[in-house]
Amino acid sequence: SLAGLDDPLPTPNRTQDRSHPSVAPSTVGAFRNEPDTDSALAGNRAWALRVLERSADSTLGVDTIAAAAVTDAAALETIVAGAVAAGTGWGATPAHDRARILHDAGDVLAAFRGRLVEVMASETGKTIGEADVEVSEAVDFAHYYAERALDLDHVTGARFVPSTLIVVTPPWNFPVAIPAGSVLSALASGAAVIIKPAPQARRCAAVMIEALWEAGVPREVLQLVDIEEGELGRALIADPRVDRVILTGAWETAALFRSWRPELPLLAETSGKNAIIVTPSADLDLAVADVVRSAFGHAGQKCSAASLVILVGSVASSERFRRQLVGSARAVRVGYPQDPTVEMGPIVEPAHGKLLSALTELAPGEEWLVKPRQLDETQRLWSPGVKAGVAPGSAFHLTEYFGPVLGIMTARTLDEAIALQNASDYGLTAGLHSLDPDEVAHWIDTVDAGNLYVNRGITGAIVRRQPFGGWKRSAVGTGAKAGGPNYLLTLGSWVAVAEET
Ligand code: ALA
Repeated sequence: SLAGLDDPLPTPNRTQDRSHPSVAPSTVGAFRNEPDTDSALAGNRAWALRVLERSADSTLGVDTIAAAAVTDAAALETIVAGAVAAGTGWGATPAHDRARILHDAGDVLAAFRGRLVEVMASETGKTIGEADVEVSEAVDFAHYYAERALDLDHVTGARFVPSTLIVVTPPWNFPVAIPAGSVLSALASGAAVIIKPAPQARRCAAVMIEALWEAGVPREVLQLVDIEEGELGRALIADPRVDRVILTGAWETAALFRSWRPELPLLAETSGKNAIIVTPSADLDLAVADVVRSAFGHAGQKCSAASLVILVGSVASSERFRRQLVGSARAVRVGYPQDPTVEMGPIVEPAHGKLLSALTELAPGEEWLVKPRQLDETQRLWSPGVKAGVAPGSAFHLTEYFGPVLGIMTARTLDEAIALQNASDYGLTAGLHSLDPDEVAHWIDTVDAGNLYVNRGITGAIVRRQPFGGWKRSAVGTGAKAGGPNYLLTLGSWVAVAEET
């Protein structure tokens, strides 16, 4: 998972001044990560204010999503049959033609940056900072998978046979980047796609899809369906004409899909319960900043988020560390994203169930260092919480809550801390703060997780540089990482022909 970190840092390949948006055509085969918006430029700050102002009463995506509503089995049948027919043609298109269109899709997504930020802020409450990086990631997926499509024709000794139809079921927490990555990978591999957006983020998906259609992805090849998650959803997943499903969501959803269709080829990126270990050799100032950012970015609603910090040895009794952590958590500016200074926005759904318990209750031995406060009547706006005294094996140690609450655990040694980190059923991201190279090497060898982060935050994987995907219950399927070199290879079948001549 650390592969690619030695790559040279990408340099921006076009102006970062968002106040003069333009689509500068870029070239397939020269992948560079798309730069985020540079808020040091006055023009960009003015651009951001305009985008956020519009987000207050945005209706972007409404018409597209209304047109995508599917309410009966006959309508769904027409869509599936049409997608299968289109997929056959798309798969037969030369890879370089598909790559050209998908590469253009990256440029159009970049030109849609303002619209995409607007709809994310409007529909899911994403702050400008969190939404802006998501657009960059979507652009990266388009440019990167366009290049990887070209690789498919150059595997020695075997030929790639695309899937005809792939269904994509994305989550609501990264409402642009994850649907974009899944859809673009499937299209690049030569399959037609039906995407069923998450109900909480359907307009975000619609605007992203509009960009892809505008770039020239045929509408029959990429179909958006807005269906209820009842019988019709089940019918779609269980349809034998669907060759593969790409799911990002809860592990339980993957299990449900499997129960509907046991032999379903499923690529699922699922849940996480991620911890950062801090050892006595760490730079504690940096550790506090990274823990707070990883725990409370997007109000903790990332599968990659840190919801535990495990303090080793003297750090566990360090008053200075605790004071700084408490101060930093209290200082997080909470609010709605229309205020550009807000660092942590609302949670997407009003707190209920296990998240509400995590925000309001303590188990034996736990104490609030920072008690979460409900800041308005919607149950969506909560201030960050930090609880100490989380016991090994307790609910908070092992359960994913998907909200702005961080638990503190303690360990006598690094090995004891790693055992606590590995105790989870999940294995998505994991962090270590240590300036001791032996500790770092030992930790990398011992921790059971797909994405390891040393002396930095544990969210925000970058396409190509940090291919993303987990172990254990954080993944179902092949284990190939999104945004990495092997992902497309898993989306079709391979044939090797031996012929005597
Ligand atoms: N890819 C997302 C991240 O790394 C989930 O935070």
